[in-house]
Amino acid sequence: MTQYPYSRPVSLLLLGKGGAGKTTSALSLASISASMGWRTIVLDADPQRSASEWDALNPTGTFAVHTTEVGAVPALLNRAKTHYDIVFIDHPPASYGGTKKLIRAADHCMICARPYQFDITQALEWVDLVKTESMRALVALTAASPRRQGKNAPIVEEARQRLAEAGADIWRGQITHRLTHPELIARGKTIADLPTDRLARAEYESLWSALRKQVVASHG
Ligand SMILES: Nc1ncnc2c1ncn2[C@@H]1O[C@H](COP(=O)(O)OP(=O)(O)OP(=O)(O)O)[C@@H](O)[C@H]1O
Ligand SMILES: [Mg+2]
Repeated sequence: MTQYPYSRPVSLLLLGKGGAGKTTSALSLASISASMGWRTIVLDADPQRSASEWDALNPTGTFAVHTTEVGAVPALLNRAKTHYDIVFIDHPPASYGGTKKLIRAADHCMICARPYQFDITQALEWVDLVKTESMRALVALTAASPRRQGKNAPIVEEARQRLAEAGADIWRGQITHRLTHPELIARGKTIADLPTDRLARAEYESLWSALRKQVVASHG
């Protein structure tokens, strides 16, 4: 366990189409950050309240989950940053009137996307929206078909190409489609409850390390 090593707290806004893996990713990344000893909160700004539902199932509470309206998040962020080192914001699946303001208020965005046709089309819209606000976003492919013999599945490769052609920042790794994720969620657990050698955990650790380099180190 280490203390947060940067001078300023940092916030990360998770965006993406419905079912893209925003909530799963917010909870997974938050669990890793909390396991490092960083004071961590997830702001559940989605009216579906999935992160809050998970919080009610979770017996340990190693990080906080706070339910809020999406419009209230920009004002809440400053307060959250006085108590926490890292703030994850779980955005609703569609953009709201207040979404642009929230994109500007966050330090960085992460767009979750499954590597499928309609999903990548939506991810590209999120990429454009973030760019319009002069902010940056990392795109993470989630629920992706597994790699075979070190090679990306063709559908994943096509998704990467479409994103790259649009100039998106794409995480080099992927979160693979695995039953582990829904199973953990149903038990109020996260990948931090898995042994360190499990692939489902290793993938999020790798995403975390990319985010830490690209986001936390430059804003924190
Ligand atoms: N890598 C994965 N492999 C398999 N299933 C996954 C994976 N990631 C998430 N899921 C499952 O897919 C469903 C959608 O995930 P999640 O709720 O995290 O998406 P979301 O983007 O937050 O959705 P919403 O926009 O509805 O809030 C959940 O049932 C979740 O358990
Ligand atoms: Mg969600």
